[in-house]
Amino acid sequence: MSDTMTVTVTGAAGNIGYAALFRIAAGDMLGEGIRVKLRLLDLPGAVRAAEGTAMEIEDGAFALLDSLDVYDDARAAFDGTDIALLIGSRPRSKGMERADLLSANGAIFQEQGRAIADVASDRVRVLVVGNPANTNALVAAENAPGVPGERFTALTRLDHNRAIAQLGKHTGAAARDISRVTIWGNHSATQYPDIFHARVGDRAGADIAQDRDWLENDFVPTVARRGTAIIEARGSSSAASAANAAIDHVHDWVLGTPDGDWTSVALRSHGEYGVPEGLVCSFPATSDGGDWKVVEGLDLGEFARARIDASVAELVAERDAVRELGFA
Ligand code: NAI
Repeated sequence: MSDTMTVTVTGAAGNIGYAALFRIAAGDMLGEGIRVKLRLLDLPGAVRAAEGTAMEIEDGAFALLDSLDVYDDARAAFDGTDIALLIGSRPRSKGMERADLLSANGAIFQEQGRAIADVASDRVRVLVVGNPANTNALVAAENAPGVPGERFTALTRLDHNRAIAQLGKHTGAAARDISRVTIWGNHSATQYPDIFHARVGDRAGADIAQDRDWLENDFVPTVARRGTAIIEARGSSSAASAANAAIDHVHDWVLGTPDGDWTSVALRSHGEYGVPEGLVCSFPATSDGGDWKVVEGLDLGEFARARIDASVAELVAERDAVRELGFA
């Protein structure tokens, strides 16, 4: 990794952008020694607000911050970028059909994929946060000829962190003592949070999973529906925890995952675990600071297989819909 990295954040005027940008400027994402050139992208109507956020970042007087620019044009914002956090997307509005949502986002991520292919650094790494994140990442990847498919990822680290938190609450263990949790599938209510291969201190996750009532009726639905529970409680969707997860994702990608552990990343499938090639599906993955590598060879029981298959079926349907719309 070079000692200066260019980072582009889309949706910079939004809630997750606000929570993420200060931590990126402070060095939480790329490490203490790495200087950052920050590029903020938002829609023309939100640029004024993004400039306000930029003024606050300036007022942080961050030692690692080399430059800070605000754009309303994707090509300008991605020029030379090393890390692209694609947070901005079109939210579902009242009365909007699923096809309309996929269509609106297909157009955004098609344009951004093309711009990244044309102007980003040749070592660019992309994290899609904006929903539907997995399929938006697929659209961006398919529209970025010349950029290796594995450079496009989508965020399931928030689900992963939520799973660790729930497992910690149930067992009384601290997050630091929990490893090898996995989120499989889509970043949606069909995701499958898997603790069968986890370690909780000296205990095996499979042992904890023997409490089937807790696993099936509490743990899995609590993790999968946590986003909705937060909207109901806060009146707006998860922002700081999503920003924190995006920072964890990029941190572990560029600096490596801890020895003996893995994380969850939505990556383009090469057919691992029977997931159709090309889908952006969440898998257990490690990084040595270069590319993500799917952890292979985990035994999946019937319980896991059925849930993974259901989530993958949803990803197939989303992919087919964006293909039909001409975005992939
Ligand atoms: P927000 O509505 O506060 O901000 C979104 C920002 O994106 C707005 O400033 C908007 O103007 C901008 N934007 C929209 N289209 C854009 C485009 N084409 N180019 C650049 N900017 C654009 O939303 P928030 O809370 O920051 O969430 C952002 C996205 O992240 C949403 O899609 C949300 O569903 C998703 N999300 C994903 C999570 C995950 O785990 N994958 C977790 C939480 C949220």
